Amino acid sequence: MGLKFLDIKKIDLENKIENEYFTKILDTSDEWIKSRTGISSRYFAKESVSDMAVELANKLNFDREKIRLVLVASFTSERILPSVAGLINEKLNLNENCLSADINMACTGFVGAMILAERFLRDGECAILIAAEKISSVLDFSDRTTSVLFGDGCAGVVVEKNNKLWVTDEKTYGDEKALSMRKGEFVSMQGKDVYRFAVDKVPKSIEKLFEESGIEKEDIDHVFAHQANIRILDQISSKLDLDIDKFMVNVDKHGNTSAASVPILLAEKKEFLKDGDKVIFSAFGAGLSICSVLMEW
Ligand code: ACO
Repeated sequence: MGLKFLDIKKIDLENKIENEYFTKILDTSDEWIKSRTGISSRYFAKESVSDMAVELANKLNFDREKIRLVLVASFTSERILPSVAGLINEKLNLNENCLSADINMACTGFVGAMILAERFLRDGECAILIAAEKISSVLDFSDRTTSVLFGDGCAGVVVEKNNKLWVTDEKTYGDEKALSMRKGEFVSMQGKDVYRFAVDKVPKSIEKLFEESGIEKEDIDHVFAHQANIRILDQISSKLDLDIDKFMVNVDKHGNTSAASVPILLAEKKEFLKDGDKVIFSAFGAGLSICSVLMEW
């Protein structure tokens, strides 16, 4: 069993922040940021997480009666109650037979939401999955090791349960130090530890998808992996011996938008996807956690 993507949309933010912005407030350079991360620019939102998520939900096309699940992935929501998903349910006047919840898995959140939706939905039922992040609201702009890496954004999809190929791998390795944030605090990250974790464990997670599905890596058409750092994508590609050209990339334009990274990438590259393509999704983040999916488009 799997998921069919019926609609994919993103929010276009206006406030583009070039690397030069950071060179004026921090001891850093465009060259350092580009060479260590691949990031040239990112967007900072004026809107709140819930404003972006509701705006996005309003752009999506779906059959109201078929929606059984609304999940909003974010670690930067300004809202605790009701959930952003509950707010969407109210604002869009969705049917009442609908489970609506926010999930916080940081950067892993959207692929985690895909896995949860596939397990939850029955034949012909649909879910709205949205990821929205305003990471600029939790950045310490005096810390050059984290503030240059992140961006804001929002994107989402409508999915319907189908019968096509669907294999998943989901992992959580307890680690409170590598990436953490308590209420009212700035996000704190041990960048090197997260880097080592990602280049070690993400290839293993994707290998597991090959083992379980019996699909050969040569048969993979596209990889939609979390956009944190171009060097991490390069390392994953070379460890798996999976052609880097199969990896979709937009980290240069958006930076790391956490949960929103994979659906923004999907929205920007959807024209490359054809019926029957074998596609890998993989995201990693706080937890530390990884969620990976191999599916037929
Ligand atoms: N500008 C200039 N110099 C800098 C900057 C900066 N912005 N940031 C750090 N440096 C310096 C460091 O202080 C260090 O200097 P030193 O050698 O004098 O001590 C030097 O550059 C090298 O620093 P490293 O940390 O070794 O640099 P590295 O090559 O590891 O790159 C980075 C750092 C980009 C953070 C990398 O480790 C990384 O991408 N990590 C993963 C981050 C990530 O994927 N996060 C995902 C978060 S997912 C979620 O759930 C939110």
